Amino acid sequence: MVDQETPETPESQDAPIKERKNRLYPAVSDELAASMKSDWADTELSGLEPIPQAGYAAARRAALSARFPGERIVVPAGNLRPRSNDTDYPFRPATEYVHLTGDQTQDAVLVLEPTAESGHEAAVYLLPRSARDNGEFWLDGQGELWVGRRNSLTEAETLLGLPCKDLRTAADTLREATGPVRVVRGHDAGIEAALTDKVTAERDAELTVFLSELRLVKDEFEIAELQQACDSTTRGFEDVVRTLDKAEATSERWIEGTFFLRARVEGNDVGYGSICAAGPHATTLHWVRNDGAVRSGELLLLDAGVETRSLYTADVTRTLPINGRFTPLQRKIYDAVYESQQAGIDAVKPGAAYRDFHEASQRVLAEKLVEWGLVEGPAERVLELALQRRWTLHGTGHMLGLDVHDCAHARTESYVDCTLEPGMVLTVEPGLYFQADDLSVPEEYRGIGVRIEDDILVTADGNRNLSAALPRRSDKVEAWMAALRA
Ligand code: GLY
Ligand code: MN
Ligand code: MN
Repeated sequence: MVDQETPETPESQDAPIKERKNRLYPAVSDELAASMKSDWADTELSGLEPIPQAGYAAARRAALSARFPGERIVVPAGNLRPRSNDTDYPFRPATEYVHLTGDQTQDAVLVLEPTAESGHEAAVYLLPRSARDNGEFWLDGQGELWVGRRNSLTEAETLLGLPCKDLRTAADTLREATGPVRVVRGHDAGIEAALTDKVTAERDAELTVFLSELRLVKDEFEIAELQQACDSTTRGFEDVVRTLDKAEATSERWIEGTFFLRARVEGNDVGYGSICAAGPHATTLHWVRNDGAVRSGELLLLDAGVETRSLYTADVTRTLPINGRFTPLQRKIYDAVYESQQAGIDAVKPGAAYRDFHEASQRVLAEKLVEWGLVEGPAERVLELALQRRWTLHGTGHMLGLDVHDCAHARTESYVDCTLEPGMVLTVEPGLYFQADDLSVPEEYRGIGVRIEDDILVTADGNRNLSAALPRRSDKVEAWMAALRA
């Protein structure tokens, strides 16, 4: 990295730049300072169109406004987290902020100001373009010369379809505001500090719960994005299969890197740390170290999802025979998980209880475990005591969207006890995992883990599998792998 001659960030556009000592350039000469102020072209953009999700975000803000009349609502995008010195972790804006604006700018804050007519006026506070008349653009760590061009406030207003104001006025404006306020906590300590005597934990938690539940049903824009996330993910899985020989020669890291390349080129990132679990690592649910060997004859459990540039993520798992052919025992276990997953997917439809897909999937697995003599039946007894969990371990799915585990703050009655509605998107992902040290199963089972995970949209008359382009049935998986490696 290039070392910055960074002054303290100016408090305002007129603040003097403070020089830092002990650097290769201990001072900025008057002549250089004067030179850097002039001879820059006007690059203001014209003819911009609103981002495609602007209208959808406005509808979400309208729902938020209706829920909290007369209250000021504050939704920060969040700040960079330093990794060391002036190096930061990659920025990921807060999901609530993205959902309500479509914007992804660090440090930004959405504020809904209550109006006399019982609605709200929304505005986004953003850092404007860097000033050229005081050195900010080239001496400040967040100057555009270091981090890239920002939108001007006028440009941002067109793109977002919202009034945009200077971020540097946000904290003072909020500090001075009167009347009830709620803030989404956990993203911006500075904004929270400005509101500290106006908010309560309980009221802020209600806001977070409401915004989580607002994301339960996806609109057209979101469904198209999730489809795109699944389509890119399919291509990422194909990339991995084509290059499995390189993984065998190196490690699981080759698989992680291969999928990541697809995610970065087609999308924004991976939506979560890719789980590239070969052999017995498949029995560790969130295996993200990805530093193990990839061996012919074993299975690869790959759980990975591309996050689109608008930040919607897929969450897909396939369990693949590394050499292209399942052994008889691998196939028996795989086919049981497939049957379980199919029963789960079939239970996803409008009007069904959310829990139905979980129960349908678990029933199949319990029956298989009894049939194989691993647990004493009947299946009813196993399910009642949840004895199958020794090998099924996790719940059968979750809501999906901007977050891989979306809507996590929704109330139980709105989520796991809800009735499915068109527009909900959830994963169906049963698995069977026989730990390498599990003495309760025959030795040949030990070290085998299988999960199959798809992203399912509830439609008006049933469901649509957004990740159906990736084959699931064992014989189709083998044919697909053979075709890709031919
Ligand atoms: N990838 C994490 C999960 O499947 O929930
Ligand atoms: Mn997953
Ligand atoms: Mn999942």
